[in-house]
Amino acid sequence: MPRYFIWTIGCQMNKAESQWIASYLDSIGYQACAAFQEANLVVLNTCVVRQSAEDKVLGTLGLLKGLKKEHPGLSLLVTGCFVDSNIEELKRRFPHVDCFFKPGAYYELIDWFQGQGISTLGQEINFSKSSPSPCAFVPIIQGCNNFCSYCIVPYRRGREVSRPLEEIVCEVEALVKQGIKEVTLLGQNVNSYGHDLPTNPDLADLLTELNSIDNISRIRFLTNHPKDLSQKLIGAIASLDKVCEHVELPVQSGDDDVLRAMKRGYSVERYRKLVLAIRHCIPQLSLSTDIIVGFPGETEEQFGHTFSLLEEMRFDVVHVAVYSPRPGTIAWRKYKDSVSLEVKKQRFNKIERLQTNIATEINSIYQGKIVEVLVEGKKKGKWYGRTRNDKLVFSQGGNDCSGQLIEVKIEKFSPWALQGKVVN
Ligand code: SAH
Ligand code: SF4
Ligand code: F3S
Repeated sequence: MPRYFIWTIGCQMNKAESQWIASYLDSIGYQACAAFQEANLVVLNTCVVRQSAEDKVLGTLGLLKGLKKEHPGLSLLVTGCFVDSNIEELKRRFPHVDCFFKPGAYYELIDWFQGQGISTLGQEINFSKSSPSPCAFVPIIQGCNNFCSYCIVPYRRGREVSRPLEEIVCEVEALVKQGIKEVTLLGQNVNSYGHDLPTNPDLADLLTELNSIDNISRIRFLTNHPKDLSQKLIGAIASLDKVCEHVELPVQSGDDDVLRAMKRGYSVERYRKLVLAIRHCIPQLSLSTDIIVGFPGETEEQFGHTFSLLEEMRFDVVHVAVYSPRPGTIAWRKYKDSVSLEVKKQRFNKIERLQTNIATEINSIYQGKIVEVLVEGKKKGKWYGRTRNDKLVFSQGGNDCSGQLIEVKIEKFSPWALQGKVVN
């Protein structure tokens, strides 16, 4: 049996797409393996959100060039956001790659296999549960229409295209039949789900439909855009019993001028009011955000506004990134990358230190409490999984807890995780 290895970096969308590619390869008779060196076919699922991600892709492409010299029979396929519209140019630059296909353009992958004489016609290709985890990602909307000035994603993933609501419901029902208990609905901006569909359903409608599926325990969704998150959605999260109390709401900056230059479409005050409204309706909520430090022209004072907002909002999780100019984006064309790397790193570290303290305080509340965890697997002798509000929990005891909803009494906490004993 030929063997495949899929290398994935980037966001959950890439993970979901790699899951699909794995299911497809399984369905045409390939077998997964654990390393490049053991594979007959390698798929690189790439990310270019920052230069550091792109550098990793370039490094891996270089490594595989060497490997291909040693094993000329190795096939190399590349997908993800590294693949731009100029595929001919990519082929010229990387002649050792057998096929480039854009994110989600599976028909091109299928065409390539057909070109190799591997007929896949008549095969039923479906998302299938290829890992023992009870959690699955389900893309609901592809692309992004927002064009935040720093972001390359709309250039690589194109404009928004929502999947029909019925198709998503069928897919989730099929996953649940295979034992999936938790789904995470994915999109660059899940709050704009459905605007391009004939009957204009929205995310709240989709959540309502999914909530009525028997045997599904938890529903999550990401990422939200603060300018599009509606009161109707807040109501749905609060009232639907399977929708988890966790919202990812990237703010990016706590300064109005920076937000304007980023083309985010909201002010700090509007963001603050939105968070208050969500917290008012969903008291157990955990909230995550994304921040970019060192956006072109960001002054100490403007950075100070971001810092104060984080102190005020007390997020459960903050993903901080150092601004990285992305060729082709509006910020890359209009602004000089004026904040030095040294200052960017200082600001990055300052936020990390603040957030470590805040997250420690927030997580200390769980000490001695019993929480419900959906176990995703075992690492170093401990079960790991998440609470409904997305706290990572490691636990000991219990028999085979894999894939189960268990109760854990918390005995220890850190800024990043909780630890305890299984109590049922
Ligand atoms: N759609 C999501 C995020 C997509 S990209 C949203 O609207 O928030 C994921 C994160 O990468 C972003 O939230 C942002 O914080 C970061 N990011 C995107 N482009 C970046 C850039 N050029 N430099 C640094 N960080 C960036
Ligand atoms: Fe990028 Fe903005 Fe779209 Fe998010 S909403 S993917 S940050 S352009
Ligand atoms: Fe990266 Fe593309 Fe996701 S650039 S973050 S893989 S949408």
